[in-house]
Amino acid sequence: MPSQAIGIFDSGIGGLSVARAIIELLPSESLLYFGDTARVPYGTKSAETIRQYSLDISRFLIESGCKAIVVACNTASAAALGTLRETWPDTPIVGMEPAVKPGANATRTGVVGVLATAGTFQSQRYSTLMQRYASDVTLLENPCIGLVEQIEAGELDTATTRRLLEDILQPMLQQQADTFVLGCTHYPFVAPLIQEIIGSGRTLINPAPAVARQLSRVLQVHHLLAPPEAIPNHQLFFSGDYSGTEALAKYMLGGAFPIAPLTL
Ligand code: DGL
Repeated sequence: MPSQAIGIFDSGIGGLSVARAIIELLPSESLLYFGDTARVPYGTKSAETIRQYSLDISRFLIESGCKAIVVACNTASAAALGTLRETWPDTPIVGMEPAVKPGANATRTGVVGVLATAGTFQSQRYSTLMQRYASDVTLLENPCIGLVEQIEAGELDTATTRRLLEDILQPMLQQQADTFVLGCTHYPFVAPLIQEIIGSGRTLINPAPAVARQLSRVLQVHHLLAPPEAIPNHQLFFSGDYSGTEALAKYMLGGAFPIAPLTL
């Protein structure tokens, strides 16, 4: 039913960057967000493990009455999107993928820096994207070890995070990368710092607005868009300690929403 919430999940707070884009584009929609902070990070775990987590979380979202699901995690989308769609063929399920195509279109030097997780880089989904869209450009990949943990800890602009990002980005800049793709939904939390390091003349691509547009199209096709006069009701659940999460959620969403712990 159009009045039901959209279920959205990630390994932690990262998917809130996608939630923000959805709230901006579709302000009448209600979101039920699940952040699996007890098991973050996903990017270093096996695809089979992430598939199982994704099935459990999606089952919870569907049993909670969600009309659609957004897998607001590149790693989980790479590992589980096909399985989720097979398991719930009647529920629209929208996923993420690293913006390799927009990156390849935007670059002038022919060199694109891709920041994602190890799980995403190892996936079939990523290989397919590379073959399809990036045969004419050089992709410089970095799995950003430790960055998700820094972001979950709220270290968005500390000396350690800055050093970590400089170590990732400087070699890409030296190799003439002029376009950078945020291939993990956590990374928009440090987009200002990344932009500062790469300089204002270079392009930083966050796929979240494109995912929100795709969700809008899918809801429209299924006649599931909330009526414009609907009053949204957002709920956020986190599986682990979320003491610091409230401030991070407020930072990303631009407002305070109810947060509660939840173990699946
Ligand atoms: N935010 C997720 C992604 O987009 C996962 C990060 C992680 O838990 O490693 O890939």
